[in-house]
Amino acid sequence: MKIVSVVGARPEFIQVAPVSRALRETHQEILVHTGQHYDYRMSQAFFDDLGIPAPDYNLEVGSGSHGRQTAEIMVRLEEVLLKERPDLVIVRGDTNSTLGGALAASKLHIPVAHIEAGERSFNRRMPEEINRLVADRVADLHFCASRMAVENLAAEGITGSVYWVGDVMLDAMLQNRPIAQRKSNVLQCLNLKPRGYSLVTIHRAGNTDDPARLRQIVIALNRVPEIVVFPVHPRTRKALSQLDVQFARHVRLIEPVGYLDMIVLEENARLIATDSGGVQREAYFLGIPCLTLRDETEWVETVKVGWNKLVGTEPERIVEAWTHFAPSGERPPIFGNGTAARRIAQILNGNPGGDVQ
Ligand code: UD1
Ligand code: UDP
Repeated sequence: MKIVSVVGARPEFIQVAPVSRALRETHQEILVHTGQHYDYRMSQAFFDDLGIPAPDYNLEVGSGSHGRQTAEIMVRLEEVLLKERPDLVIVRGDTNSTLGGALAASKLHIPVAHIEAGERSFNRRMPEEINRLVADRVADLHFCASRMAVENLAAEGITGSVYWVGDVMLDAMLQNRPIAQRKSNVLQCLNLKPRGYSLVTIHRAGNTDDPARLRQIVIALNRVPEIVVFPVHPRTRKALSQLDVQFARHVRLIEPVGYLDMIVLEENARLIATDSGGVQREAYFLGIPCLTLRDETEWVETVKVGWNKLVGTEPERIVEAWTHFAPSGERPPIFGNGTAARRIAQILNGNPGGDVQ
């Protein structure tokens, strides 16, 4: 099969790495980078760290409003799709690149596969929720990271084309953790000791674009009693610069880090606090307690089994959980067993097999 894979934002580069490797054993893959993320640390660093093949096309859409960015992706991707005439377009996750890719392909009657299908926050004010709902509605194949996602799709009447393959982020973690442990010297560079710090990431529009919520998060971080390492997403850096706040000395703001450094920072953290979907799951894979700085999450299973706690942005609640949250129970294989990419390739080869167990 000739397959066009669409990527554009940081988590999509991580997800495409194991899938590309598996697909290219039997299929021709054309990699299209929409250009949604473009800073070296948000894009090329992941191609370098993960050995992802160079994109065949970069649409260079850059940043913009939702309408403009999605429309530019559609206009520029349509040209590529008309030229390449693929048998399948694969999109992943819930970004504007996912939405633009799914719409451009489905309007040309090209079958669409959606990886990480069926995740729902049930909050339609999140741009990602709209992107997921539309991508799942037009997709012909749905590859789910968790059983909950399969149930969410069933509740929307989407069945038959749905496969629980597990989370490709887990594949990426298992493949890259030993490499990260060998290559990364991030702890030495930042003078950190294992379990001697917490790790924070924030980038959700719901937190960054709401000055009151962002201010509350800063107040909470300033109050916690340990070193906080905070790789700052460019969107958050911009929002913080418009907010008149000071960070306490124990909060160390750094540039976004590459994937290998991130794995080492995550696995050695005492605690992770985040609003990222990928980082919540990685905390679970690694058995690091996670506080989610949101009011709801798509990854409800991690909350149900006790390894993730929804704390919102209220400082007292965050600081209380920071000191007292100490999960220790089992971590059942909610996200499969790290063979999601291989299962996706098998399904595309016509061998569906059973759900991942
Ligand atoms: C996007 C996704 C979000 C995902 C996140 C992963 C959408 C709607 N949102 O959010 O679901 O979790 O990526 O990180 O698709 N910027 C730079 N350099 C870059 C990229 C962005 O400076 O390389 C700045 C620009 O000011 C831009 C802002 O960050 O306007 C937001 O970027 P954008 O891609 O629109 O959304 P993210 O917040 O990154
Ligand atoms: N990540 C990274 N460096 C950073 C922050 C995050 O490599 O400085 C990785 C993280 O480990 C995860 C992915 O980026 O694999 C998550 O992306 P992000 O939080 O931007 O988006 P989301 O998952 O929320 O869509």
